Amino acid sequence: MPWDNDDKRNFLFFLNDIHPVCVDDGLMGVLAAVSSWDTVAGIVNTARQKNAVARSVKKAQLYFHVPFCERICTFCNCAKYLLQRPSDIDEYIKALTRQMMLMAPVLKGMDTDSIFFGGGTPSILDEQQMTRVLDGIDNSFPAVDRKIFIEIHPSSWTESKLALLSGRGLYRLSVGVQSLDGKVLERVSRTQTRKKTLWCLSSARKVGVPHVNVDFIAGLPGQTVKGLMKDIKVVIEEGANIIDVQPYSGPSLKALCGPKETVPAFIKRRDAMMKTVTQVLHETGFRRKGIWESYSLHGEGDYGASYKEESYGRLEEAVAAFGPFARGQFPGAVFYRSGRLKAAAGLTEVSAVKLDPGYTLAHYALLAIIKDNGVDEQVFFKRFGVSLEGHCGEGLRYLQQSGLIIFSKGKWKFSGEWDLRRIREYFALSRVLFGEDLLLRLRIHFRKLYNPKRDYCGGNSLLKSYADNALMSVYYKMGC
Ligand SMILES: C[S@@+](CC[C@H](N)C(=O)[O-])C[C@H]1O[C@@H](n2cnc3c(N)ncnc32)[C@H](O)[C@@H]1O
Ligand code: SF4
Repeated sequence: MPWDNDDKRNFLFFLNDIHPVCVDDGLMGVLAAVSSWDTVAGIVNTARQKNAVARSVKKAQLYFHVPFCERICTFCNCAKYLLQRPSDIDEYIKALTRQMMLMAPVLKGMDTDSIFFGGGTPSILDEQQMTRVLDGIDNSFPAVDRKIFIEIHPSSWTESKLALLSGRGLYRLSVGVQSLDGKVLERVSRTQTRKKTLWCLSSARKVGVPHVNVDFIAGLPGQTVKGLMKDIKVVIEEGANIIDVQPYSGPSLKALCGPKETVPAFIKRRDAMMKTVTQVLHETGFRRKGIWESYSLHGEGDYGASYKEESYGRLEEAVAAFGPFARGQFPGAVFYRSGRLKAAAGLTEVSAVKLDPGYTLAHYALLAIIKDNGVDEQVFFKRFGVSLEGHCGEGLRYLQQSGLIIFSKGKWKFSGEWDLRRIREYFALSRVLFGEDLLLRLRIHFRKLYNPKRDYCGGNSLLKSYADNALMSVYYKMGC
């Protein structure tokens, strides 16, 4: 598919925003006029090789947002549209293909094995449409081994879609269940039947999909602790080995309450569910993984985490995101695509937020300490070309003296088992590692965007995407 010089120029600005690469205006003009897009990509890649952080990123996860739904659930805070015409999906696939072709040469040489389909409702694509998207991905991002992660709605999932995707590397099937109680589902305008939902799980296990995830929401109108626990037991029996329970949340707490329910009563009901879920899943052998409310039966290591759990906040992996509302991450920046379908067809409507380089390094150290079993001095140096000692050695020793972290076998580690609920420990680590100076600047930045009356848990704003990365929202929630 051809693209003109304006497209190329805009894409260069985009690359300039998401990379720590400085392509000046003069060069931009020259580059936009060259006939081969590969040449442009080559120049950008060479510039990227000169930056240690950018150079260290060898893997780019590919994320495709499918924004359409057949029906809108009352509770939903995802980025989606009600599908108006089936032809909208074909237009969308054309846009995706175009975005992929522009991005492909830039990611050349990177590992792009893992692809994520999120939504909206990716299972709304029929077999031919899915095939077209997968072929487009194979053309633009060839890979030997594929791992496909997909979110599905039980109502639009079929045996032939399962067969198609499992033949092409289906690795994690994430089933939007929310509740198995027909009355609860009716109240939130969801259509799936219990029988179909359970079939989605058992059929996936039967064909050997390694990771079968179920999404639940805790706190929906009419939902009880007992009911949710019963549902969880059933889906585990049907073969789910990852359970994701999100607390019901939205921009206004009042809107979340059931009829005649007060806000405090709602919070009490929702939080009782979350507490019981944690306890019961733990007793059943599930362990919380990552920083989200996701529990897995698998051991350490690769447990089929969804992209949101594992990629954001990881500096060694970029997320190349496609489609309306898609959110990506490159070394040094996060970006967010416009939700408008037309605008999203090109790469022009992208907001990028540059990350402070000092923050980027400290954030890496912090996440490695709490999530990756420690930050290794040699790995840090190799990756960033900066010594860990030089960047935050003093802070690490201070934390060691306070007993929060230990130094063992060349690594700084958290001294106990990490649990995000240990907010105070997180504060202490980040205060010391980020440094008051940087924190102050970040806080000023966030305060401008933050609305204390809003429940950020589960929102979809750019602030949220940044806050997820930085885990910063907790500062404001706690009023620090
Ligand atoms: C893209 S949807 C999953 C796939 C498919 N669209 C479906 O609904 O079955 C992503 C998930 O976000 C969660 N979610 C949506 N709105 C939420 C809200 N207000 N509070 C908590 N979780 C929510 C739901 O658990 C949902 O399964
Ligand atoms: S929960 Fe899923 S199906 Fe329902 S509106 Fe949201 S994205 Fe669409």
